[in-house]
Amino acid sequence: MAGVVVVGSQWGDEGKGKITDYLSQKADVIARYQGGNNAGHTIEFNGQKFALRLIPSGIFSGNEVILGNGMVINPKAFLEEVEYLQSAGIATDKIKVSDRAHVILPYHLEIDELQEKRRGANNIGTTKKGIGPTYVDKYERLGLRIGEFIDEELFKERLKEILEVKKASFPEIESDFQSIFDEYKEYAKKIKPLVTDTALILDDYLQDGKNVLFEGAQGAMLDIDYGTYPFVTSSHPGANGVAEGSGIGPLYLTDAIGIVKAYTTRVGSGAFPTEIEGELADQIREVGHEYGTVTKRPRRIGWFDAVVVNQSRRMSSLTGISLMLLDVLSGIETLKICTAYTLDGEVIHALPSTIKQLNKVKPVYEEMPGWSEDITKVKSFDELPVNCQNYIRRIEELVKCPVTIFSVGPDREQTIVLKEVF
Ligand code: GDP
Ligand code: IMO
Ligand code: MG
Repeated sequence: MAGVVVVGSQWGDEGKGKITDYLSQKADVIARYQGGNNAGHTIEFNGQKFALRLIPSGIFSGNEVILGNGMVINPKAFLEEVEYLQSAGIATDKIKVSDRAHVILPYHLEIDELQEKRRGANNIGTTKKGIGPTYVDKYERLGLRIGEFIDEELFKERLKEILEVKKASFPEIESDFQSIFDEYKEYAKKIKPLVTDTALILDDYLQDGKNVLFEGAQGAMLDIDYGTYPFVTSSHPGANGVAEGSGIGPLYLTDAIGIVKAYTTRVGSGAFPTEIEGELADQIREVGHEYGTVTKRPRRIGWFDAVVVNQSRRMSSLTGISLMLLDVLSGIETLKICTAYTLDGEVIHALPSTIKQLNKVKPVYEEMPGWSEDITKVKSFDELPVNCQNYIRRIEELVKCPVTIFSVGPDREQTIVLKEVF
């Protein structure tokens, strides 16, 4: 039995989709446990490229895939994604959706937009997919769950009730009951056959000694508690979110793989201690195609930050790191690694809790010589230029976790596994 989770260890977009797809070839079931279509996961193989938002990146393995209870699901976006996969000839008959996941409805998107406007210059830079407002309703106990959504009578009753309350708080909401109901009851009919208690399915696989793979969305620095609050998402992207968002306990996890870019990116607002601007940032952005999968926004670029990845290692009990996009760093003469911060002249090794302090921290850097070789065809650690090997070894030391996978290009084939998890 193996329960493995793939988690984002920076600010998202580290390459979780690629590694989930890769590992899913040896998994029996693949599950998402948090987030929604704020995620954009890219998968490339056999000259084909896919971008997924809701459906686990393990779908290409032909195995069963699960959208877990911790997710927030936009039914329209979900059905569009199913169609997108079907039109590319990918089988979608093994998708299961948790009866306890929460439904994103049109008013959530409106509220997301409104809140961002109200925040003005302090806006979070959300993906405007209604994620935050849907999680707010969940914890307010004003959410609509998939199990209720697929019961037409119940959906009608609950939607009426909820919309009334929401409109009292947000008079600007334009969505009306009848048009939401008429449109969404049709989506509910299509989704109904996929809905079940997905925790029972996961438990069956685990009890049978099978391989279960969990796919995180977003990243550790966007965690609602330990991220750069309030510039975060509204869920727990790390291994800490698996139990809560899938219905199985934490002790079923046998490995947690931290997906880590060989540098750092962030999309949206908020502190980013190792951010760089100018020519080098532009070069990395172009070589690494650092533009959002969902929003197409240019990603902010920065040096590798060991303080950040250490925090992810602590939160997720990482057992291995998958170091991504190493190829993008070829040709940079000197690389910087952030080993600690200073705050008001004092050296610190963890992120402070307030945004005021976060905006004040200064990175402490060490420099390492880079490499100029093209590494995109490398198949083993030994084939890497020695400076690249040293860079990897230094990251392992600083983060206190072994690099068990590394990646030298977007394709499935450009993945080198140093230690298997399944
Ligand atoms: P995710 O959200 O964590 O799944 O990551 P995204 O898909 O949003 O962004 C990662 C991007 O990097 C995608 O465009 C991938 O195709 C690409 N990618 C993944 N691994 C590598 C790599 O090793 N090298 C290069 N050049 N690109 C990679
Ligand atoms: P994947 O899974 C990168 C960011 C948004 C914003 C903040 C809150 O592809 O790594 P939200 O819409 O969630 O309320 O936005 O979180 N964000 C992501 N950044 N990758 C993601 O997903 C993200 N999902 C949300 O840009 O700063
Ligand atoms: Mg992404």
